[in-house]
Amino acid sequence: MNAVDCIKSRRSIRNYKEEQIPQEVIREVVDLARFAPSWKNTQIARYYVVQSAELKKKIAEECMMDFAFNTKTLTKAPALVVVAYVEKRSGYERDGSFTTSKEDRWEMFDAGIATQTFCLAAAEKGLGTCIMGIFDEAKIAEAINLPEGQKVGVVLAIGYPAEESAAPARKEADQLVQFL
Ligand SMILES: Cc1cc2nc3c(=O)[nH]c(=O)nc-3n(C[C@H](O)[C@H](O)[C@H](O)COP(=O)(O)O)c2cc1C
Repeated sequence: MNAVDCIKSRRSIRNYKEEQIPQEVIREVVDLARFAPSWKNTQIARYYVVQSAELKKKIAEECMMDFAFNTKTLTKAPALVVVAYVEKRSGYERDGSFTTSKEDRWEMFDAGIATQTFCLAAAEKGLGTCIMGIFDEAKIAEAINLPEGQKVGVVLAIGYPAEESAAPARKEADQLVQFL
């Protein structure tokens, strides 16, 4: 799949086949995602893959802020991924001060780039994903036993798509760009 097709065909998928994803395939996705750019090449993103039905159910039912839409998506997905990041590197100087006025927001910026790279790599492998921003950060961290010094960036549902959906409407390029 070329880059144009991959960018255009990646969709947020909310219905999945029951088929489990081989760990080797997820490893290949991470092997591509690791080429994402990051602040001073700090590479702070970490991927926690939940395939255990029990843990996935707990996260779906107890960690999504009672947002039933996301609970339903996670219930249908054979796996979920928590994209976490190592704190206090991206956006920081060696002495612990912030480099710019964006302070620690570069951490989430890096996690976002890593997440989209992961989703595009997954799409290339025939996998659908759905990024989810509505979750209880503390509960997710506790559920996956996130190590000290890492934070939850985002939760993704992942699996082989059981739906084909058209892209939601996009603004035209001319509405988004200004040449100065
Ligand atoms: C930061 C972020 C948070 C999102 N949170 C959710 C979510 O909680 N639940 C959900 O179903 N989709 C969520 N989405 C998916 C968007 O709704 C989706 O990307 C958008 O509608 C465009 O559709 P597409 O991804 O198929 O192109 C999120 C996407 C992003 C980037």
